[in-house]
Amino acid sequence: MKLLHIDSSILGANSVSRQLTAEVVAAWVAAHPGTEVDYLDLVANAPSHLDSNSIAVKTGLQAAPSEAQRRENAISEELVSQFLATDVLVIGAPLYNFSIPTQLKAWIDRLAQIGRTVKYTDKGPVGLAGGKTVIVVSSRGGVYSTSEGGQATEHQESYLKVIFGFFGITDVRFVRAEGVAMGEAPKAAALAAARADITAVVGQAANQDQAALAA
Ligand SMILES: Cc1cc2nc3c(=O)[nH]c(=O)nc-3n(C[C@H](O)[C@H](O)[C@H](O)COP(=O)(O)O)c2cc1C
Repeated sequence: MKLLHIDSSILGANSVSRQLTAEVVAAWVAAHPGTEVDYLDLVANAPSHLDSNSIAVKTGLQAAPSEAQRRENAISEELVSQFLATDVLVIGAPLYNFSIPTQLKAWIDRLAQIGRTVKYTDKGPVGLAGGKTVIVVSSRGGVYSTSEGGQATEHQESYLKVIFGFFGITDVRFVRAEGVAMGEAPKAAALAAARADITAVVGQAANQDQAALAA
């Protein structure tokens, strides 16, 4: 089994999501010995934003791609191949300005490719990357999950569910630490809740493995 561990927090050693993704990966590997772990730090190695050279090769707009277009295509190709070869993704996704970090968005933009992660049919888009498990570690300064207003203003967990669903991935789980900027006690409670989520999402996977073996 291949696991891709991704971090996108800009806060380095002070990051809540980086701390928690490490704990998720450790728990996953303990529950699934032999898991092969790959690591992507999207802040240390941020994919560049898409530009006019990025999509020309894929859309066949140009018969003979330029050097710049080839270079751009190679960046997307490496990231989408790594993604497609992965069974489990553990993604650190902090809430920044009501959304995800720009580095994480740049990575997702490199994955969204017709013929690789999605295809269009007469019934609409069909995801091509199903069968994976995505565990999102969501860290938030405030609390958004407990009110309609909060749920309507966060474009982080809701967006990630939509985009991975668009790729065909239905098994998207969340480890959530929210309210981490609201004082020491709320932060401690948020971390405790996130650790309970870790036990639940890794346990959920272990149960599914046993069910698959028994079937
Ligand atoms: C650039 C930036 C933007 C942020 N925007 C929000 C926000 O919109 N809503 C919120 O509740 N917290 C916001 N925060 C607080 C973070 O969500 C919080 O610090 C969380 O721990 C970030 O995850 P990290 O520690 O892994 O980076 C922001 C923090 C930063 C650094």
